[in-house]
Amino acid sequence: MREILPTGRPALVLAPMQDVTDLPFMRVMARRGAPDWFVTEYFRVHRDSCLHGTLLRSILENETGRPVFAQMIGGDLPSLVRSARQLAGMPVAGIDLNLGCPAPIVCRKNAGGGLLRDLETVNRLLGGLREAIAGSFTVKTRVGYADPGEFAGLLEIFRRHAIDGLTVHGRTVMERYATPVHAECIRMAVEAMVCPVIANGNAVDCTTGLALLEQSGAAGLMIGRGAIRNPWIFAQLRAVFAGLTAPVPSHRDLLGHVIELYEETARETRRFVPDSHVQRMKKSLAYISHGLQGRFEYEMRRAQTPADFFGICRTHLDHDAPLPAQPPVGSKLFCGFEALLAPTSQGPA
Ligand SMILES: Cc1cc2nc3c(=O)[nH]c(=O)nc-3n(C[C@H](O)[C@H](O)[C@H](O)COP(=O)(O)O)c2cc1C
Repeated sequence: MREILPTGRPALVLAPMQDVTDLPFMRVMARRGAPDWFVTEYFRVHRDSCLHGTLLRSILENETGRPVFAQMIGGDLPSLVRSARQLAGMPVAGIDLNLGCPAPIVCRKNAGGGLLRDLETVNRLLGGLREAIAGSFTVKTRVGYADPGEFAGLLEIFRRHAIDGLTVHGRTVMERYATPVHAECIRMAVEAMVCPVIANGNAVDCTTGLALLEQSGAAGLMIGRGAIRNPWIFAQLRAVFAGLTAPVPSHRDLLGHVIELYEETARETRRFVPDSHVQRMKKSLAYISHGLQGRFEYEMRRAQTPADFFGICRTHLDHDAPLPAQPPVGSKLFCGFEALLAPTSQGPA
């Protein structure tokens, strides 16, 4: 990871998100102001798995000019080693292991965040993968399974295996997405690790991004839901890092983005069914419409057809008012983001 860190400013990374950060999404994000690198949605790895064709496209057809890491999730070492070797033969910047997914079905199989309950297995998997991966091997983790007090023990294991980069989503698995982030744990990782540490969780705009960087001391920021909501976030942060004023997009800019995202993802859908495509787009629109004035969010939840979808977008977005920088305070979708701005008064930052 160190070779692709930008010089003179923190790195900016698009977070991997299942069913969102696919090749069309990467392309559109690259046009809004690309992150420094991408990470694929996770490849599920088990004894009978083979690398998923659609996901492979974000590696094999990545023409964004930005590197992409391939992320794996699983708990079976021989299968992880087999998949890592296959992926390493492709144009990837490195291989990333997911130690954070909180989905019960994943955790029950002792994969993703579920592995954080079993440090011995984490130790064995990292040892085996480190030996098998000659290039960059990185880890994306949460700060523990049930309690951030577990993080010190995890860091000891990460240090033992000379990983090349560590991304820390500052919540425990059990906290899912429902709490502020523990920026102090990310700082612990920065202090403990030799490799670059990337901070993740609740950066929703420049102010919260800068606050997370300052509180953690991390080498970069990974941004997920905040980048769905505001695809200009990387361009804005880059401007701020350079001492410039961040561009402020308008509602009409957002309308253009939504249309482009719809068309780009539609073009890449093998069996395109218009109404199903609307349902798929609504997953991103939940973040995009969140907290915008009027009934946009409410009406979008009810959209069924492309005519509904575009009609609702045009009604609410076809004007020049600037977009709000942040989601509403108290937001359930971006839970606890405001704690980054007042770390002492609002609990863990
Ligand atoms: C819809 C969705 C899908 C996700 N899929 C993945 C994934 O495939 N791999 C992963 O490591 N994290 C995944 N995550 C977690 C994000 O990468 C990120 O750690 C989390 O959203 C916190 O960052 P944020 O506050 O910037 O969104 C996903 C999150 C969301 C909301």
